[in-house]
Amino acid sequence: MACILRKFDTKADDMRRPVILIVDDEEMVRKTLEILLKDYYEIVTAKNAYEAIEAVRAGSIDMVLMDVNLPGVDGIKALERIKGIDGEVGVVMLSASDSAQQAVKALRKGAYDYVTKPFDNDDLLSTIKRLADRLDLKSRLEYLKGELQEKSGYGEIISKSPKMKKVFDLIQKVGRTSSSVLITGESGTGKELVARAIQSMGERKDKPFVAVNCGAIPSELMESELFGHEKGSFTGAHAKKIGKFEYADGGTVFLDEVSTLPMHLQIKLLRVLQEKSFERVGSNVPIKVDIRVIAAANVDLEKEVRKGGFREDLYYRLKVVPIELPPLRDRVEDIPLLVEHFLDKHSRKCNKAVKGMTAEAIEALMSYKWPGNIRELENLIERLIVLSKEGGLITYDDLPLGIFSSDPAGQTKEAKDFKEACKLFERHYIIGVLNNTNWNRLEAARRMNIHRNTLMMKMKDLKIRGPRRKGRVFNS
Ligand SMILES: Nc1ncnc2c1ncn2[C@@H]1O[C@H](COP(=O)(O)OP(=O)(O)OP(=O)(O)O)[C@@H](O)[C@H]1O
Ligand SMILES: [Mg+2]
Repeated sequence: MACILRKFDTKADDMRRPVILIVDDEEMVRKTLEILLKDYYEIVTAKNAYEAIEAVRAGSIDMVLMDVNLPGVDGIKALERIKGIDGEVGVVMLSASDSAQQAVKALRKGAYDYVTKPFDNDDLLSTIKRLADRLDLKSRLEYLKGELQEKSGYGEIISKSPKMKKVFDLIQKVGRTSSSVLITGESGTGKELVARAIQSMGERKDKPFVAVNCGAIPSELMESELFGHEKGSFTGAHAKKIGKFEYADGGTVFLDEVSTLPMHLQIKLLRVLQEKSFERVGSNVPIKVDIRVIAAANVDLEKEVRKGGFREDLYYRLKVVPIELPPLRDRVEDIPLLVEHFLDKHSRKCNKAVKGMTAEAIEALMSYKWPGNIRELENLIERLIVLSKEGGLITYDDLPLGIFSSDPAGQTKEAKDFKEACKLFERHYIIGVLNNTNWNRLEAARRMNIHRNTLMMKMKDLKIRGPRRKGRVFNS
């Protein structure tokens, strides 16, 4: 059974065999290298640059051993493409020519080493071993860097999805400014987390961050909540009240569910954004403030504008920098990372150690649609920790039944068309066989009677990640 373990488990690192892609147009060379390496590494082969690029794109390749002189696209160009797809892949170039110029070119393009043919078997093995050690070290460093980032208040935003990478770039850029930001995304996608991260990036980081959930405040109290009131300004106003905007002076006001803001307050908010001033309820004295506004909406605000429920001028004022958060079902590659993060967070909070979660359980989580997004996942993990045994391992059987629309019959019923139904079925079938072979891809491909390269491509296409790369997974 495979499972996610706690960070830096050295036993876990030792258990996973790195995957090497051998690229050479000569079958003899491919075979010789395969025989030399197969006792230590998992082998994938390609006979030209196109196949090599496809294999890297399909994921799971750690190292590439590639001939420079390939038919069609040559090895140096392929190296460039491979590095563009996955900069972490270590590449060793092989060549019959010992041209120093060519070697320098390869190294400049990011190759780890350049080996001339005929090569000495032991030398080649030790080059690859050094590269493998370096990759391991690199992944640990990267992990450490990630941890530091978390601790240094970049927020606790966990993600490696390319869609979220764009969000991170925006957070960094916009953090240094005071422009208004409109964050959109389904409920539970991390809008408030992103808003806090923006605040923590810039000069306002030590100033107040005041979050207001517009949807949760009764509309008759909203004006006074946001802008404050003078004593006696309405029945029940027994004392002067400072509103959120005044309180947040110098910092950020986060307006959650901004679409629910009543019309007359939309006008007042527009004035705050344009003139940086407002009056308390019951007063004519303008109060000047230095505020950054970040608004969030989980409905389509543009549609609200078209329906007449939201002012168009305010919409554009808020949307100076729009940030759209993708739903969790569009970034399933984040699920193993998030699971690990929440296992850590909630086992600490509940003061209860857990060993981890099996890969089978994680696969089931990756097949689920998560209508409540990350919040739903976090709540589930917390619940599982509360219900688990001290030091226990969370397995597939511990998951609530709702998750198991991942059984093909249940899931295919929800598929939007025939193609999606076939994909869901394939996914379920492949995960099943992989589970039965302890995620040994070679053995799984043999049982399915398909080529291992086909399996790798299918896994990439169907977003089957299985046990985590770079070692924090083991087979027991
Ligand atoms: N990328 C992430 N990494 C780690 N935790 C996350 C991430 N995204 C969201 N969370 C966690 O999920 C929960 C929900 O996030 P948040 O409150 O920011 O969502 P939201 O989009 O504001 O939801 P709503 O629309 O319901 O207000 C929080 O506990 C948050 O810490
Ligand atoms: Mg929110």
